[in-house]
Amino acid sequence: MDRYIVIGNPVEHSLSPDIHRAFAEQTREDLEYATLFAPQDAFASKIAGFFDAGGRGANVTVPFKSEAHSWVDAHDVSAATTGAVNTIAREGDLSMGYNTDGPGLIADLDALGIDVAGSRLLMLGAGGAARGVLGPLLAAGVADLVVANRTVARAETLVAALEGGAVKACGLEAVTGPFDVIINGTSAGLSGEAALIAPAVAQGAICYDLLYARDGATPFCEWARSAGATRVVDGLGMLVEQAAAAFAIWRGVTPDARTVLAALRGHT
Ligand code: ATR
Repeated sequence: MDRYIVIGNPVEHSLSPDIHRAFAEQTREDLEYATLFAPQDAFASKIAGFFDAGGRGANVTVPFKSEAHSWVDAHDVSAATTGAVNTIAREGDLSMGYNTDGPGLIADLDALGIDVAGSRLLMLGAGGAARGVLGPLLAAGVADLVVANRTVARAETLVAALEGGAVKACGLEAVTGPFDVIINGTSAGLSGEAALIAPAVAQGAICYDLLYARDGATPFCEWARSAGATRVVDGLGMLVEQAAAAFAIWRGVTPDARTVLAALRGHT
């Protein structure tokens, strides 16, 4: 049977196996999907071992997305422009790298009826997660982009590498609104931190957290609600959509992401 994995550290609580098994059932594709833990310094040997043993494809999660970019034999345009790989497909003798995070976010925003074209958008964070989605957001027509980061120099470097639109970098304390959309791309929520910027900035904005919780209550989402955001969304929809895009690359069939998302939320 064709074998797939998600490789990461930590990886045991990943929802990817549940999502891909649901896709396989829905599309009647015959495959196995498991988690693979890699020690910090052993990504290359673990992933090579998996493919040498006949593995067909892998999702890559924290902290290996940029290492995966160096490891693969070739990149599609999404991976080449972000410098990060979240999906690897074995194509003949080659390992091909893709990045479906950006398309996943855009697909989720579309499904939610959130149109970023012409918008003024604030990105919080300048790490790998933010970097992976900024290109696709600009391509989707964001008119005015501010990247705010705790370490300003990192935001400046990121902004310098972006093409198109009016793009600016600043520190978190220097952010002033208003914004149509605010996206949290920091990992601060993983340690429970959420108050990254002045609450007034979130008032009247749509707030989207790239982190997720099954009940939608991430620290940033809770903060945004209390700050007066008009709409608050966590990243579970993006997770399912990026998985659907990976599944389509591997199997040539696009699953229905929204049914699986509803099931994960406990709405079915
Ligand atoms: P990822 O791949 O998840 O983006 P990363 O590359 O380590 O991980 O980036 C983490 C991001 O979250 C960075 O923008 C980081 O800010 P710094 O560049 O200043 O380190 C941000 N971040 C993490 N913890 C934070 C906190 N407590 N407050 C504000 N920003 C935080």
